[in-house]
Amino acid sequence: MNSEDVYILEVIVEDEVLASFCQRELDACRKILCSSPLFIKLSEGMVGLGNLNEPKQGLVFVDFVGGTMAHRRQFGGGKKSEAVARACFGNMNSPVIFDATAGLGRDAYVNAYLGARVHLFERNPVVRLLLKNGLDRAMSSDNSDFFRERMILEDVSTISEYSGDVVPDTVYLDPMYPERQKSALVKKEMRTFHELIGCDEDRLELLDDARKIAGKRVVMKNPKWAPILNEKVRTAEVVTKNHRFDIYSPLLRR
Ligand SMILES: C[S@@+](CC[C@H](N)C(=O)[O-])C[C@H]1O[C@@H](n2cnc3c(N)ncnc32)[C@H](O)[C@@H]1O
Repeated sequence: MNSEDVYILEVIVEDEVLASFCQRELDACRKILCSSPLFIKLSEGMVGLGNLNEPKQGLVFVDFVGGTMAHRRQFGGGKKSEAVARACFGNMNSPVIFDATAGLGRDAYVNAYLGARVHLFERNPVVRLLLKNGLDRAMSSDNSDFFRERMILEDVSTISEYSGDVVPDTVYLDPMYPERQKSALVKKEMRTFHELIGCDEDRLELLDDARKIAGKRVVMKNPKWAPILNEKVRTAEVVTKNHRFDIYSPLLRR
């Protein structure tokens, strides 16, 4: 991040009940630095992320119940047409997946509704708060059992801090890469996300940590242009128009 364009994330609270419900996560957000004037707004039970430089964009929030994610679940294809599931499931029907870079939970949701039990880890406090709020709202929907059983947001933010006794079949990684497209072509929502998180430079450590705990496979999603992180332990790939999912062997096969 350039020192000339560093902003402190602004927190706007219009819903005090929600603010007290997520006090711990909210406190972690108050000192976040970003490269454009971003803010989070708590209003009517929802947490949204906004960007003062993109006033027309509206707030980014997580919605598993309505919107595009629910539409994808209803009308999207099955395991064969969802590349992320092809890569994460292999020939398993209901794997346990650790989604180590949960973000806004889109890939986790696809894997969950296609049959996986997903444990979610997210280290950025703002993204984590958006995700938690989306899950909390989903848990008071008609489909609450599904979210409670299949999308479990872990208390620790990274897989290296995990001390529970679940052994995941698959560890899924989707870290942030630098933007390559001309900025006008990148979706505004994605740009805001980049301005909040930047680029995750510690991909190699993450891959190593994932290989230590995975039972059967580690999957890393990359843009197609990205170099392969560790050719020696890469066993397969799933390629789509813009992405490549590299499949790596675990350190110890269980
Ligand atoms: C590209 S986004 C993931 C998008 C996600 N797959 C989805 O479908 O919404 C990458 C996210 O991973 C998080 N992240 C990166 N490295 C991480 C790590 N080592 N532990 C936890 N979270 C990490 C970033 O904070 C960011 O929110």
